[in-house]
Amino acid sequence: MEVKQAIQKRHSVRHFTDQKIDSKQLKEMIGIAQKAPSWVNSQPQKVYVAQGETLEAIRKQQQELTITGAKTNSDIPPMSRKLWSEQAQKNMAEWSHGIPAVLGDNWQET
Ligand SMILES: Cc1cc2nc3c(=O)[nH]c(=O)nc-3n(C[C@H](O)[C@H](O)[C@H](O)COP(=O)(O)O)c2cc1C
Repeated sequence: MEVKQAIQKRHSVRHFTDQKIDSKQLKEMIGIAQKAPSWVNSQPQKVYVAQGETLEAIRKQQQELTITGAKTNSDIPPMSRKLWSEQAQKNMAEWSHGIPAVLGDNWQET
């Protein structure tokens, strides 16, 4: 695939199937992702691969933390949306309208 085509076809994925992925393929994808640039080439990311029961346990725990409104543990403190530019706030407000459909009323903008 050409770089231009890869960029044009790229999109965020938020729905997943339960299709198994071969570990060789997974390792190859992680290897490719490691080529991503990082701040001062710090490469701070750690990659963990979880499958099966472990993945299910993580999924359940994350759902619970989201529902109970647990404090997040971000690497970089998130900047309150109120401090973003007017245009950015308008964009976020416009594109966030689907969130309550997924999380119900148990969420708030930071
Ligand atoms: C630095 C960065 C941070 C992002 N943070 C989030 C996030 O916190 N939550 C989220 O749902 N998507 C996040 N995204 C994905 C964007 O919302 C997504 O790229 C945007 O909606 C455009 O959709 P597309 O990637 O399909 O073109 C982030 C993307 C980038 C580049």
